Amino acid sequence: MSTMINPTAFDAFAEAYDDDFTHSTLGQLLRPRVWNVLAQHFSAGQHVLELTCGTGEDALWLARRGVHVTATDGSAEMVEKAKAKAEAAGVTRGGEEARRWGSLEIEQISLQEVIEGYFAGLRSPVSGPPFDGVFSNFGGLNTIGEWRSLAAALAEIVRPGGTVILVPMGPFCPWEIGWYLAHGQPRQAFRRFSRNGAPAKIGAAVIPIWYPSAGRLRADFAPWFTHLTTQSLELWLPPSYLDHFVNRRPGLFHRLNRFEKATARLTGGWGDHYIIVFKRN
Ligand SMILES: C[S@@+](CC[C@H](N)C(=O)[O-])C[C@H]1O[C@@H](n2cnc3c(N)ncnc32)[C@H](O)[C@@H]1O
Repeated sequence: MSTMINPTAFDAFAEAYDDDFTHSTLGQLLRPRVWNVLAQHFSAGQHVLELTCGTGEDALWLARRGVHVTATDGSAEMVEKAKAKAEAAGVTRGGEEARRWGSLEIEQISLQEVIEGYFAGLRSPVSGPPFDGVFSNFGGLNTIGEWRSLAAALAEIVRPGGTVILVPMGPFCPWEIGWYLAHGQPRQAFRRFSRNGAPAKIGAAVIPIWYPSAGRLRADFAPWFTHLTTQSLELWLPPSYLDHFVNRRPGLFHRLNRFEKATARLTGGWGDHYIIVFKRN
């Protein structure tokens, strides 16, 4: 099985993505947790490359904090949504608000193109690598099954001391294991541990999804990057396909979110997702 997929499969998600996830109770608990980490590492005036930006929610948040963002995604429909949002907010280059805040450029670029060196020729105004940091949120990186070549490509375009923040889906998700075991589906319960990619239904397409452990990413990034932190995201909170639990007991899940946040560094790469941070050597 090829270790990369064609991201056009995600076109089918673009229309409903914000309603189904971003604006859901669960989405509104999760995104600020990631923003909290972004705020610790990215500051106004910096230039950040976002990979797999989806509908541009995080890119817009960064731009509103004064960060210049080049946001990319492989899905044409996702890119359209993100562009419409950026234009409405006036943060596209030359836009009314881009002078006050950061600017936001959005391009249809796949991870495959980034790995093949799409940004490699770019230089920053001081003729170093062009980006102060790179970021990918909520599972965009799970459509590739090999991360060392991505790390090598990022090493070319992130300045020394720059930060890479990744939020992949991890292999060990107790909610998922429990849910599928309770429904008599042991293969589904442990599908994330498959080395060849676990088939997942994305719209009408079935594509392989790979679930790297934090240890695997640390090893793949080690030649060029120093690992700073790993923290769980959705260990006590469920994956989004089980968000009906959250909607039924929002008070309980707000408390679990606070507990998860306080203990996230202890549980590292466990959970539906995790947040891992690297610094370029
Ligand atoms: C679950 S969504 C996350 C979107 C966004 N980062 C967020 O936080 O809402 C995954 C995104 O990754 C993009 N994606 C998946 N595989 C990709 C690839 N190989 N190259 C570029 N984008 C990809 C999809 O198009 C989709 O927008």
